[in-house]
Amino acid sequence: MAIREVRTKEDEILYKSCKEVIKFDEKLHILLDDMYDTMSSHDGVGLAAPQVGILKRAVVIDVGEGKLELINPEIIEQSGEQTGNEGCLSVPGIWGEVTRPNVVTVKAQDRNGKWFKITGEGLLARAICHETEHLDGKLFLDRVTKFVE
Ligand code: NI
Repeated sequence: MAIREVRTKEDEILYKSCKEVIKFDEKLHILLDDMYDTMSSHDGVGLAAPQVGILKRAVVIDVGEGKLELINPEIIEQSGEQTGNEGCLSVPGIWGEVTRPNVVTVKAQDRNGKWFKITGEGLLARAICHETEHLDGKLFLDRVTKFVE
């Protein structure tokens, strides 16, 4: 396990679309473990693979409800609305108000390729939306309605 360098918003890799994961091998497991360590070391609640320079559809999240790994995630249901402050490890020091669905259901594969569904509410829903958007080369900055001083 290792802490990897977090790419910041000047890095063009963050604006690229990620490729589907097809191999659920040791290399993927090491990536996921490293992503979790990297996220934790920066007190983050979520991290997407492109943030450590890997263009693969893989995300780790921990909003205090346990570790969640989403491979090839797809949001299949969403409802409600929440508005709150959001930040990103790739955009250090900048926070902004973003409106997101309050509840989302995501379909994804685990680290061994098994499909599952999970429904998240509040902060977990926000993290799922934020991290899955990273996989399509999108940063939260585009969604900010008001920057927080
Ligand atoms: Ni982010």
